[in-house]
Amino acid sequence: MNTTYLAFAPLQGYTDAVYRRAHHQCVGGVDEYYTPFVRIEKGEIRRKDLRDTDPAANEGVPTVPQVIARDGDEFARLCDALQEQGWQRIDLNMGCPFPMQVKAGRGSGLLQHPEHIKEILLEMQKRPGVTFSVKMRLGQECEEEGLRAMPIINEMPLIHLTLHPRLGKLQYKGTADAEAFARFRDVCRWPMVYNGDLCGQQPVVGGPLKGVMIGRGLLARPWMLGNKEPHEVVLAMHAIIYRHATEHLCGDSQILSRLHAFWEYLDISHKQKKAILKATTLLRYREAVAALNLPFVYVDELIQ
Ligand SMILES: Cc1cc2nc3c(=O)[nH]c(=O)nc-3n(C[C@H](O)[C@H](O)[C@H](O)COP(=O)(O)O)c2cc1C
Repeated sequence: MNTTYLAFAPLQGYTDAVYRRAHHQCVGGVDEYYTPFVRIEKGEIRRKDLRDTDPAANEGVPTVPQVIARDGDEFARLCDALQEQGWQRIDLNMGCPFPMQVKAGRGSGLLQHPEHIKEILLEMQKRPGVTFSVKMRLGQECEEEGLRAMPIINEMPLIHLTLHPRLGKLQYKGTADAEAFARFRDVCRWPMVYNGDLCGQQPVVGGPLKGVMIGRGLLARPWMLGNKEPHEVVLAMHAIIYRHATEHLCGDSQILSRLHAFWEYLDISHKQKKAILKATTLLRYREAVAALNLPFVYVDELIQ
Protein backbone atom coordinates (compact mmCIF):
# COMPACT_ATOMS: atom_id res chain seq x y z
CA MET A 1 0.00 0.00 0.00
CA ASN A 2 1.27 3.42 -0.91
CA THR A 3 0.61 5.65 2.11
CA THR A 4 3.08 7.22 4.47
CA TYR A 5 1.50 6.17 7.76
CA LEU A 6 -0.01 2.79 8.51
CA ALA A 7 -1.60 1.94 11.84
CA PHE A 8 -2.98 -1.30 13.28
CA ALA A 9 -6.41 -0.45 14.71
CA PRO A 10 -7.27 -1.28 18.31
CA LEU A 11 -9.59 -4.28 18.63
CA GLN A 12 -10.70 -5.08 22.17
CA GLY A 13 -10.29 -8.80 22.87
CA TYR A 14 -7.97 -9.35 19.87
CA THR A 15 -5.03 -6.94 19.66
CA ASP A 16 -3.64 -7.23 23.18
CA ALA A 17 0.03 -6.62 23.95
CA VAL A 18 1.00 -10.21 23.09
CA TYR A 19 -0.77 -10.09 19.73
CA ARG A 20 0.80 -6.72 18.91
CA ARG A 21 4.28 -7.97 19.79
CA ALA A 22 3.76 -11.20 17.83
CA HIS A 23 2.70 -9.23 14.76
CA HIS A 24 5.55 -6.73 15.10
CA GLN A 25 8.13 -9.52 15.43
CA CYS A 26 6.74 -11.85 12.77
CA VAL A 27 5.57 -9.37 10.11
CA GLY A 28 6.16 -5.67 10.85
CA GLY A 29 5.26 -3.02 8.27
CA VAL A 30 3.05 -1.19 10.79
CA ASP A 31 4.05 2.29 11.99
CA GLU A 32 1.95 2.27 15.14
CA TYR A 33 -0.16 -0.25 17.06
CA TYR A 34 -3.06 1.25 19.05
CA THR A 35 -4.07 -0.45 22.28
CA PRO A 36 -7.71 -1.29 22.95
CA PHE A 37 -9.17 1.50 25.11
CA VAL A 38 -8.22 1.89 28.74
CA ARG A 39 -11.44 2.50 30.67
CA ILE A 40 -12.90 3.43 34.02
CA GLU A 41 -15.27 0.80 35.37
CA LYS A 42 -17.11 1.07 38.69
CA GLY A 43 -15.12 4.19 39.48
CA GLU A 44 -11.71 2.55 38.99
CA ILE A 45 -9.34 2.33 36.05
CA ARG A 46 -9.35 -1.34 34.97
CA ARG A 47 -6.14 -2.98 36.16
CA LYS A 48 -6.26 -5.38 33.22
CA ASP A 49 -6.14 -2.39 30.85
CA LEU A 50 -3.13 -0.90 32.65
CA ARG A 51 -1.32 -4.25 32.43
CA ASP A 52 -1.83 -4.08 28.66
CA THR A 53 -0.30 -0.58 28.50
CA ASP A 54 2.55 -1.46 30.88
CA PRO A 55 5.67 -0.28 29.01
CA ALA A 56 7.41 -3.58 29.85
CA ALA A 57 4.70 -5.49 27.96
CA ASN A 58 5.13 -3.19 24.94
CA GLU A 59 8.90 -2.88 24.85
CA GLY A 60 10.27 -2.51 21.34
CA VAL A 61 6.79 -2.26 19.78
CA PRO A 62 5.65 1.17 18.50
CA THR A 63 2.55 1.51 20.65
CA VAL A 64 -0.09 4.19 21.18
CA PRO A 65 -2.24 3.75 24.29
CA GLN A 66 -5.90 4.67 23.85
CA VAL A 67 -8.37 5.94 26.46
CA ILE A 68 -12.15 6.22 26.50
CA ALA A 69 -13.67 8.93 28.69
CA ARG A 70 -17.04 10.59 29.25
CA ASP A 71 -15.75 13.98 30.43
CA GLY A 72 -12.73 16.03 31.46
CA ASP A 73 -12.48 14.40 34.87
CA GLU A 74 -12.33 10.81 33.56
CA PHE A 75 -9.96 11.88 30.82
CA ALA A 76 -7.60 13.52 33.34
CA ARG A 77 -7.53 10.41 35.54
CA LEU A 78 -6.75 8.16 32.59
CA CYS A 79 -4.03 10.49 31.28
CA ASP A 80 -2.48 10.70 34.77
CA ALA A 81 -2.30 6.89 34.96
CA LEU A 82 -0.73 6.57 31.51
CA GLN A 83 1.69 9.44 32.09
CA GLU A 84 2.73 7.75 35.36
CA GLN A 85 3.56 4.68 33.28
CA GLY A 86 5.78 6.97 31.17
CA TRP A 87 3.60 7.54 28.09
CA GLN A 88 3.86 10.85 26.23
CA ARG A 89 1.47 9.86 23.47
CA ILE A 90 -2.26 9.20 24.03
CA ASP A 91 -5.18 8.53 21.69
CA LEU A 92 -8.77 9.43 22.64
CA ASN A 93 -11.62 7.16 21.57
CA MET A 94 -14.67 9.07 20.30
CA GLY A 95 -15.93 6.25 18.13
CA CYS A 96 -16.76 3.15 20.16
CA PRO A 97 -20.38 2.23 19.31
CA PHE A 98 -20.91 -0.41 22.06
CA PRO A 99 -24.26 0.49 23.70
CA MET A 100 -22.88 0.35 27.25
CA GLN A 101 -20.21 2.94 26.45
CA VAL A 102 -22.51 5.09 24.30
CA LYS A 103 -25.18 5.22 27.05
CA ALA A 104 -22.50 6.36 29.50
CA GLY A 105 -21.59 9.21 27.10
CA ARG A 106 -18.32 7.63 25.97
CA GLY A 107 -17.06 6.61 22.52
CA SER A 108 -19.41 7.84 19.80
CA GLY A 109 -21.76 8.85 22.66
CA LEU A 110 -19.29 11.60 23.59
CA LEU A 111 -19.99 13.26 20.22
CA GLN A 112 -23.46 14.09 21.57
CA HIS A 113 -21.95 16.11 24.44
CA PRO A 114 -19.91 19.05 23.10
CA GLU A 115 -19.64 20.45 26.65
CA HIS A 116 -17.74 17.31 27.74
CA ILE A 117 -15.51 17.46 24.65
CA LYS A 118 -14.62 21.04 25.67
CA GLU A 119 -13.63 19.81 29.15
CA ILE A 120 -11.36 17.24 27.51
CA LEU A 121 -9.83 19.96 25.31
CA LEU A 122 -8.94 21.92 28.48
CA GLU A 123 -7.31 18.82 30.01
CA MET A 124 -5.26 18.29 26.86
CA GLN A 125 -4.08 21.92 26.98
CA LYS A 126 -2.82 21.31 30.55
CA ARG A 127 -0.49 18.56 29.27
CA PRO A 128 1.94 20.11 26.77
CA GLY A 129 4.31 17.13 27.16
CA VAL A 130 1.79 14.72 25.66
CA THR A 131 1.10 14.22 21.95
CA PHE A 132 -2.60 13.51 21.47
CA SER A 133 -4.67 12.06 18.66
CA VAL A 134 -8.39 11.34 18.32
CA LYS A 135 -10.15 8.39 16.72
CA MET A 136 -13.79 9.05 15.95
CA ARG A 137 -16.91 8.17 13.98
CA LEU A 138 -19.14 10.54 12.02
CA GLY A 139 -21.52 10.82 14.96
CA GLN A 140 -23.71 8.55 17.06
CA GLU A 141 -27.14 9.29 15.53
CA CYS A 142 -26.24 11.70 12.71
CA GLU A 143 -23.27 13.30 10.93
CA GLU A 144 -24.16 16.75 12.35
CA GLU A 145 -22.98 15.56 15.77
CA GLY A 146 -19.46 14.95 14.50
CA LEU A 147 -19.40 18.11 12.38
CA ARG A 148 -20.56 20.17 15.38
CA ALA A 149 -17.62 18.77 17.39
CA MET A 150 -15.06 19.71 14.72
CA PRO A 151 -14.40 23.33 15.84
CA ILE A 152 -13.54 21.98 19.34
CA ILE A 153 -11.41 19.20 17.86
CA ASN A 154 -9.63 21.82 15.74
CA GLU A 155 -8.57 23.55 18.97
CA MET A 156 -7.15 20.33 20.46
CA PRO A 157 -3.37 19.84 20.21
CA LEU A 158 -3.50 16.81 17.90
CA ILE A 159 -0.96 15.03 15.75
CA HIS A 160 -3.80 13.62 13.62
CA LEU A 161 -7.46 12.68 13.54
CA THR A 162 -8.49 9.16 12.57
CA LEU A 163 -12.00 8.94 11.16
CA HIS A 164 -14.05 5.77 10.69
CA PRO A 165 -16.81 7.19 8.47
CA ARG A 166 -19.82 5.33 9.88
CA LEU A 167 -22.40 6.41 12.44
CA GLY A 168 -22.16 4.78 15.86
CA LYS A 169 -25.79 3.64 15.67
CA LEU A 170 -24.93 1.52 12.62
CA GLN A 171 -22.17 -0.30 14.54
CA TYR A 172 -20.57 -2.26 11.63
CA LYS A 173 -23.54 -2.38 9.25
CA GLY A 174 -23.37 -0.97 5.72
CA THR A 175 -20.13 0.33 4.29
CA ALA A 176 -17.75 3.07 5.35
CA ASP A 177 -18.81 6.37 3.71
CA ALA A 178 -15.86 7.88 1.82
CA GLU A 179 -17.90 10.94 0.80
CA ALA A 180 -18.67 11.72 4.44
CA PHE A 181 -14.94 11.37 5.16
CA ALA A 182 -14.24 14.06 2.56
CA ARG A 183 -16.77 16.41 4.21
CA PHE A 184 -14.88 16.12 7.50
CA ARG A 185 -11.54 16.62 5.78
CA ASP A 186 -12.81 19.90 4.38
CA VAL A 187 -13.32 21.27 7.92
CA CYS A 188 -10.52 19.49 9.82
CA ARG A 189 -7.28 21.38 10.38
CA TRP A 190 -5.35 18.21 11.37
CA PRO A 191 -3.79 15.58 9.12
CA MET A 192 -6.32 12.78 8.68
CA VAL A 193 -6.07 9.00 8.85
CA TYR A 194 -8.72 6.90 7.12
CA ASN A 195 -10.16 3.85 8.87
CA GLY A 196 -12.87 1.41 7.86
CA ASP A 197 -13.26 -1.74 5.74
CA LEU A 198 -9.73 -1.61 4.27
CA CYS A 199 -7.89 -4.78 3.39
CA GLY A 200 -4.71 -3.56 1.73
CA GLN A 201 -6.29 -1.33 -0.91
CA GLN A 202 -5.98 2.45 -0.92
CA PRO A 203 -9.16 4.29 0.13
CA VAL A 204 -10.66 6.55 -2.53
CA VAL A 205 -11.31 9.82 -0.71
CA GLY A 206 -10.30 12.29 -3.41
CA GLY A 207 -7.74 14.25 -1.41
CA PRO A 208 -4.64 14.10 0.76
CA LEU A 209 -4.36 11.65 3.65
CA LYS A 210 -1.72 11.19 6.33
CA GLY A 211 -2.32 7.47 6.14
CA VAL A 212 -4.62 4.60 6.96
CA MET A 213 -5.58 2.48 9.94
CA ILE A 214 -6.56 -1.14 9.37
CA GLY A 215 -8.31 -3.42 11.86
CA ARG A 216 -10.26 -6.48 10.81
CA GLY A 217 -8.42 -6.71 7.48
CA LEU A 218 -5.15 -7.24 9.35
CA LEU A 219 -6.69 -9.71 11.80
CA ALA A 220 -7.87 -11.67 8.74
CA ARG A 221 -4.51 -11.45 6.92
CA PRO A 222 -1.80 -10.56 9.39
CA TRP A 223 0.79 -11.49 6.72
CA MET A 224 -0.50 -8.84 4.28
CA LEU A 225 2.23 -6.23 4.90
CA GLY A 226 5.22 -8.57 4.84
CA ASN A 227 6.82 -10.91 2.36
CA LYS A 228 6.54 -14.20 4.27
CA GLU A 229 4.16 -16.99 3.30
CA PRO A 230 0.79 -16.75 5.09
CA HIS A 231 1.17 -20.09 6.87
CA GLU A 232 4.64 -19.13 8.13
CA VAL A 233 3.25 -15.96 9.68
CA VAL A 234 0.26 -17.73 11.20
CA LEU A 235 2.43 -20.44 12.73
CA ALA A 236 5.03 -18.02 14.10
CA MET A 237 2.43 -15.67 15.61
CA HIS A 238 0.47 -18.60 16.99
CA ALA A 239 3.57 -20.01 18.68
CA ILE A 240 4.12 -16.73 20.56
CA ILE A 241 0.46 -16.33 21.54
CA TYR A 242 0.10 -20.02 22.51
CA ARG A 243 3.17 -19.91 24.69
CA HIS A 244 2.09 -16.73 26.43
CA ALA A 245 -1.48 -18.00 27.00
CA THR A 246 -0.38 -21.34 28.46
CA GLU A 247 2.22 -19.67 30.69
CA HIS A 248 0.07 -16.81 31.97
CA LEU A 249 -3.57 -17.91 31.96
CA CYS A 250 -5.23 -20.51 34.18
CA GLY A 251 -7.37 -23.40 33.06
CA ASP A 252 -8.34 -24.65 29.62
CA SER A 253 -11.32 -22.36 29.21
CA GLN A 254 -9.38 -19.12 29.79
CA ILE A 255 -6.51 -20.31 27.61
CA LEU A 256 -8.85 -21.48 24.85
CA SER A 257 -10.80 -18.27 24.75
CA ARG A 258 -7.58 -16.31 24.16
CA LEU A 259 -6.43 -18.79 21.52
CA HIS A 260 -9.81 -18.87 19.77
CA ALA A 261 -9.66 -15.08 19.39
CA PHE A 262 -6.49 -15.51 17.30
CA TRP A 263 -8.34 -17.68 14.76
CA GLU A 264 -11.74 -15.98 14.73
CA TYR A 265 -11.08 -13.38 12.02
CA LEU A 266 -8.29 -15.29 10.20
CA ASP A 267 -8.87 -15.76 6.50
CA ILE A 268 -8.87 -19.56 6.42
CA SER A 269 -11.58 -21.90 5.27
CA HIS A 270 -14.72 -22.23 7.38
CA LYS A 271 -14.14 -25.97 7.83
CA GLN A 272 -10.63 -25.50 9.19
CA LYS A 273 -11.71 -22.72 11.52
CA LYS A 274 -14.73 -24.63 12.83
CA ALA A 275 -12.63 -27.56 14.05
CA ILE A 276 -10.37 -25.24 16.03
CA LEU A 277 -13.14 -23.06 17.46
CA LYS A 278 -15.24 -25.97 18.64
CA ALA A 279 -12.39 -27.54 20.68
CA THR A 280 -13.33 -27.38 24.36
CA THR A 281 -10.12 -28.82 25.81
CA LEU A 282 -6.53 -27.85 25.14
CA LEU A 283 -5.80 -31.40 24.00
CA ARG A 284 -8.56 -31.25 21.35
CA TYR A 285 -7.40 -27.78 20.36
CA ARG A 286 -3.85 -29.00 19.74
CA GLU A 287 -5.19 -31.91 17.72
CA ALA A 288 -7.33 -29.54 15.64
CA VAL A 289 -4.39 -27.21 14.94
CA ALA A 290 -2.14 -30.18 14.07
CA ALA A 291 -4.85 -31.53 11.75
CA LEU A 292 -4.79 -28.31 9.73
CA ASN A 293 -2.14 -29.97 7.66
CA LEU A 294 -0.37 -26.75 6.75
CA PRO A 295 -0.14 -24.79 4.50
CA PHE A 296 -3.73 -23.76 5.03
CA VAL A 297 -6.38 -23.39 2.38
CA TYR A 298 -7.10 -19.69 2.23
CA VAL A 299 -10.48 -18.32 1.30
CA ASP A 300 -8.83 -16.52 -1.61
CA GLU A 301 -7.66 -19.80 -3.11
CA LEU A 302 -11.14 -21.29 -2.69
CA ILE A 303 -12.68 -18.40 -4.60
CA GLN A 304 -10.27 -18.58 -7.56
C1 LIG B 1 -14.23 -6.53 18.23
C2 LIG B 1 -13.86 -5.09 18.02
C3 LIG B 1 -13.22 -4.39 19.03
C4 LIG B 1 -12.88 -3.04 18.84
N1 LIG B 1 -12.23 -2.34 19.84
C5 LIG B 1 -11.89 -1.04 19.65
C6 LIG B 1 -11.19 -0.28 20.64
O1 LIG B 1 -10.86 -0.76 21.74
N2 LIG B 1 -10.88 1.02 20.36
C7 LIG B 1 -11.22 1.60 19.15
O2 LIG B 1 -10.90 2.77 18.92
N3 LIG B 1 -11.85 0.90 18.20
C8 LIG B 1 -12.18 -0.39 18.41
N4 LIG B 1 -12.79 -1.08 17.41
C9 LIG B 1 -12.97 -0.42 16.10
C10 LIG B 1 -11.77 -0.68 15.20
O3 LIG B 1 -10.59 -0.12 15.73
C11 LIG B 1 -11.99 -0.09 13.79
O4 LIG B 1 -12.24 1.29 13.91
C12 LIG B 1 -13.15 -0.75 13.06
O5 LIG B 1 -13.08 -2.15 13.17
C13 LIG B 1 -13.18 -0.33 11.59
O6 LIG B 1 -11.96 -0.62 10.97
P1 LIG B 1 -11.73 -1.98 10.11
O7 LIG B 1 -12.88 -2.05 9.13
O8 LIG B 1 -10.38 -1.81 9.47
O9 LIG B 1 -11.80 -3.12 11.09
C14 LIG B 1 -13.16 -2.41 17.60
C15 LIG B 1 -13.78 -3.14 16.58
C16 LIG B 1 -14.13 -4.46 16.77
C17 LIG B 1 -14.78 -5.21 15.63
